Amino acid sequence: MLIIGCSHGIHLAANVAKKLKKPYSELKVNKFPDGELYIRFIKDVKNQVVVLMQSFYGDINDCLIEVLFAANTAKDLGAKKVILVAPYFPYLRQDKRFKPGECISIKVVGKFIDRIFDRVYIIDPHLHRQRALSNLFKTKAVNLTSNSCIASYIKKNIKNPVVIGPDWESYKWAGKAADIIGCKSYILEKKRYSGRKVKVTVNKKIDLKGKNVVLVDDIISTGNTLIGAMKNLKRLGAGKFDIVAVQGIFVENALEKLRKMNAKVITTNTTPNKAAKIDLSGLIAENLKNQ
Ligand code: R5P
Repeated sequence: MLIIGCSHGIHLAANVAKKLKKPYSELKVNKFPDGELYIRFIKDVKNQVVVLMQSFYGDINDCLIEVLFAANTAKDLGAKKVILVAPYFPYLRQDKRFKPGECISIKVVGKFIDRIFDRVYIIDPHLHRQRALSNLFKTKAVNLTSNSCIASYIKKNIKNPVVIGPDWESYKWAGKAADIIGCKSYILEKKRYSGRKVKVTVNKKIDLKGKNVVLVDDIISTGNTLIGAMKNLKRLGAGKFDIVAVQGIFVENALEKLRKMNAKVITTNTTPNKAAKIDLSGLIAENLKNQ
């Protein structure tokens, strides 16, 4: 097996290779002046099980083209199998035609991935209307969850936690983490009006007395979901918050905005960011062991 760190996977790939005691190499990626991508393998991939590690944040579309170029090239050069490990996989939220004429983006992306990858691992994919990765990919796609790592972090660092999920989908993280910890959890309600505008409401009686509030969600993008949740919880008496999330995407100063509301923010390291304190290299290595 050869572990390859693609441009947005380097922060995890070297550690995964080390844990697996497998060779590691970085993919050489350059951009031509007109924006075209250039990629090159430095190590020989012939007869290897090639694992491409890429997290799709920032220039998401470049990240996508990069792995498609890399996977096709690896096969071209005689790789035995090509596997994609995506700590953060994009376009999963556009899984439906919300308005007439819209592209169901994940369907198109899925087709490209199916064509060339023998297997795909995705950490905590945002599965919403589609319940399983097998509905989105024809190739073998494996859903890895960071719930036990998130629960261990909370257990170790936060006394008397009460876990709150900001919207019903978050039960998959908030509810599950609370179950592992053995503490109480509540799920709030959210209505989304646009990419930036959401309204979060409390739809049940919530008892925060003597508890430390821990908000748990999968993705922090603009931070508006969690800001909405904190505003509600402040009205119920909460003064400070811990936020633990899987994917810290943090667009438009989201991290600073959350911290201003007296929140300590921690994420996993699916994407590199200032709050990424929960390391998932062990989770990935464990799952790649038997390729
Ligand atoms: C969507 O429902 C996800 O679970 C997150 O709640 C959402 O992506 C967060 O986005 P934002 O931080 O922009 O509110």
